[in-house]
Order: sequence, then structure tokens, then C-alpha cells
Amino acid sequence: MMKKWWHDKVAYQIYPKSFADTDGDGIGDLRGVISRLDYLKELGVDIIWLSPIYQSPFVDQGYDISDYYRIAEEFGTMEEFDELLEETKKRNMYVLMDLVINHCSDKHEWFQKALADPYGKYAGFFHFVKGKDGKAPSNYRSYFGGSAWEPVPGTDLYYLHMFAKEQPDLNWENPALREEIYKMINWWLDKGLAGFRIDAIINIKKDLDFPSFEPDGPDGLASCVKMVEEVQGVGEYFEDIKRHTFAKYDAFTVAEVFNMKENELEEFIGEDGHFSSMFDFSAHMLAQGENGWYNSRKPSFKEWRDTIFASQMRMQKVGHAANIIENHDEPRGASRFLPEYAQNEAGKKMLATTSLLLYGIPFIYQGQEIGMTNCRRSDISEYDDINTKDQYMEALRAGCSVQQALDCCYENSRDNARTPMQWNGEKGAGFTDGTPWLALNPNYTEINVEEQDKRADSVLNYYRRLTALKKAPAYGETFTYGEFIPDYADQDGGFAYHRKTEDQDILIAANYGTEPCTLKLAGTSAEVLLSNIGNADIRAGEIAEKGTVTLESCEAAVLLLK
Ligand code: NOJ
Ligand code: MG
Repeated sequence: MMKKWWHDKVAYQIYPKSFADTDGDGIGDLRGVISRLDYLKELGVDIIWLSPIYQSPFVDQGYDISDYYRIAEEFGTMEEFDELLEETKKRNMYVLMDLVINHCSDKHEWFQKALADPYGKYAGFFHFVKGKDGKAPSNYRSYFGGSAWEPVPGTDLYYLHMFAKEQPDLNWENPALREEIYKMINWWLDKGLAGFRIDAIINIKKDLDFPSFEPDGPDGLASCVKMVEEVQGVGEYFEDIKRHTFAKYDAFTVAEVFNMKENELEEFIGEDGHFSSMFDFSAHMLAQGENGWYNSRKPSFKEWRDTIFASQMRMQKVGHAANIIENHDEPRGASRFLPEYAQNEAGKKMLATTSLLLYGIPFIYQGQEIGMTNCRRSDISEYDDINTKDQYMEALRAGCSVQQALDCCYENSRDNARTPMQWNGEKGAGFTDGTPWLALNPNYTEINVEEQDKRADSVLNYYRRLTALKKAPAYGETFTYGEFIPDYADQDGGFAYHRKTEDQDILIAANYGTEPCTLKLAGTSAEVLLSNIGNADIRAGEIAEKGTVTLESCEAAVLLLK
């Protein structure tokens, strides 16, 4: 495999609105990011992905861009962005922006011009399609609920929006649109960006016949994803983008792809793939309900573990996946993937251990490194997220009580991950001196950076040790290129795998169960490289004496086998 500069990196996602506010308006800003670069460096972060910071009406929190060349006023200025780039370079860090090019904002100049002249040049930047029999062109349901078509005022046309109606989809069939987008991407890369996280990219190819599908929900609509899954040829767009932009800069790209067709993996992230990497959402998709959050599932431990294992086996043959526990679209991993008895510091460290050392590039999401959790709200008005509001209504329509619908939000809402970063235990959590745009999780008084920074056995300090181990010169090669080999899969609650090269074999083993489990090691000795509950000496003794390692409930260990 050809080595690439990003293979051995640790990445960190910043959700700027909720990271650090320096001007007291309750909204995180670029100054806030700059002020925390040393913190990130110390955490072992190399690559920073910034969720969108472009000018936006924030209907979908910045994923609705009204000007690709401007920084949102709330976040700061272009000068501050340039300063951020400079400061990261000084620290040998890389910055990724979020590339949102499936759609823009309805406030974008292109869309405004399109509305003003629905048959003119800019209408061709979007999908303006004639309705059928006085109705929308097809029966697509948007990802955020309701029809994916919105009437174009004063005409019999409709425009397509796969997300909110304020996020009109761009027409990639149009070469003039593509040219504009490439120009914009290169403009950012010229500034010195290291690359992009690419939003919703799988959606850019449309079937221009817009066929209707068999309804799949009580609303009589069919998910627009059906069209995306059936249409052929999206890869040609990806190659075209790559050739005109990323490839010229050796940029790192990580794609948001949900519905991956297995036989296309090579084409996507293989050595010469469309993208450098893509997120592995396989474990996150497990919970997905047939119709929404109200019938989401709780996968068993085994199902969860085996899904990750299967995905690793597939991915490692092809390339380096981006591994996540959570992101800004998902509930907190500690609340979601850990059984209740493991929702403590030991459990959070265990989850970190088994996840960060998988084959691929780990992406830590802000707050994950201190073990931030989901946040209960007592009324839907306390949520901000557009998707949460839709899912709440869906749950009510399906017959859930208000409490049940709120429980769905507690378990699934994207706002769980968007509550402000918990820097300290004082009012405003060190996030802001003002009123935070989204209420803090009240547990900031216990779970915060300041407290954990001082305490040697905190989750934060464990993450620091973990990233340091992953990148240690003595083991870095193995953690980056070593084969992933699952082991002890028949142990109840066991989550164990090797990372193995020709001359090194490292076993990562954890016990997600409630009872202790004993693993018989193949070799005669092993060195404990890391242990999450301070049992390293005890384990070393046991290994030397019996050739076994016993893991208590919620214990994780990293062993260099000899
Ligand atoms: C995926 C983004 O991560 C999510 O936050 C957003 O709502 C949609 N794409 C639409 O851009
Ligand atoms: Mg601010």
C-alpha cells in the first residue's frame, strides 16, 4: 500500500458553534478555536475538521451555505480564519473544512437569482422541474421529513431539496455549476487547507426523470434515498471533482457516505479512490428505525461488535476508513454504545481504547475526550435541531405520548452532541460568559476539562495516553498498517482484536460484560502497554505467572505480545 501523509494521523471534529465563545454572544467562534489549539495539540490531535463556518442563515446549523467565500459573521472574519491556519501550521496541525456541495442555502445568490428568473441561467444551477397533474414531480420524502419538492412561486415548477426546503439541491449535471464549485474548492485549497470533509456527497447524482417509488411510510411518500440508491454514475462526478481539485493538492478528503454499495468500496477509498477516506457508520446505522426514531432499535452488544469487526475486515483490504464514536449528527457514544453499568469513566476509556486503535483514522468529536453524554430536555422547545423537531412530530403522529417522543429525542437527537463544550464547572462552563445558544448539559459541573486535566486518572488524560501510544515511534507502524485480526469472539462481552505486522503483534482487549473474563494468551509473555483501570501491574504479574489475562467488567488493556 502506498503510504499517505494522513494514514497515521489523529483527527478531531470541532463543531464551532459549540466549541468556545470568546466574545460573549453565546456562540462559539474562530478566536475560541485558536485559543484551544494547544489543548488539542496536547490531546494528540493532528487534523482538525471544522463543521461549516461559511456564511449561513443557520437553518441547518451552517449546512445551508449562503456564501461559500465568506466566514459566518457569528464566527469571525476571514483574517481570523487565516490566523487560525497560520497557528495550526506552527503546531504541525492540518485543517479540514466542511464541503457542502449537494445543496446550498435558499438565501444563496444563485438561488435568489433563480427565483427571480425561473427559466434563466441560475435556475439551471438547481432542479427546477415541472409538476405533474398540479402536484410535485415525484413522491420523494426529504431527509428532514415532508415532500422533497417545493413550489417555485408564480410558476408550475418545483425545486428539489433532499434536506430542508431552505437547502435547495444543486444541479451537478450542469457544467457551469460544476465549474463554480471547483473554483471555490481550489480557492480554499490555495489558502492552505489540508482538505475537506465532504457532506452528503452520495446524493449529488440525480435521476433526472425523478421516478416515483412505492410509498414506504404512513405519509404515502418514499424516501428520496431510493432514487440515490438506484441511479448510476455518481462516481464520474467524484472523479471529475478529484481531478479538478483535490488531486492537484494532495488534499485529504473524507466523505460522508451512508449507503455504500459493497462492490464500490475500492472505487471510493482504494489506492486510487475518489476519496482519501470515508466514515464508517456501520455501527451507527444499526439503530436506525424503519420509519424514524420512534421505532429505532437497540442492537445487542454482539451485534454491535460484530458489525464493527465485519466492517474492519472489509475496509482494511481496501483503505483507511475514518472511525468515529460520535459526531454532530449522532447522540453521544458514551450514552449510546455503553451498557448502563458501563456508563462511567472506566467504560468511556474502554470505548475509546477499542475504537481508537481500529484500522483507520480516528476522528474524535469534541467533548468525547472528556466523556460528555446525552442531555435530557423536558420540552421539545428546548431543542434547536430541525431534524429533532421533525422526528418528534413523527413520533407523536405514530401514536407516541409526549414523554415517549421526548425519550426518542433523548436517545437520538443531534442536539445531544451539540450542547456546548464543557471546559470548566463555572457558570457558562467556560464556554461562554453570555447565554449559550443551546443550553448546556447540566452535568458540566462534574464533567469538564478543567477538572479532568488535573486528575491523572481522568478520561481526558487517558485519551492523551491513548493517542500518544497510537503514534509512539515504537508502535505507530503497527497501529497504522498492522492487520486487524479479531480474536476471542466467543467470550461474552469480549471485544478483542490484534493489530499485527510481520514483527509485532499487539492485542487490544476489553470486557464489555458484567462478569470478569479470562483470556488465554497464545505466547508466553506480553507487556502491558496501556490499561484503563490501573491494573497494569496486576495484569503483568498474571501474564508472567499463568499466561492469561483477566479483565474485570469495563476493563480494557493493550498488550504487546511476545
Ligand atoms: C450531513 C450533515 O452532517 C448534517 O448535519 C446535515 O444536516 C446534512 N448533511 C445536510 O447537509
Ligand atoms: Mg462568540
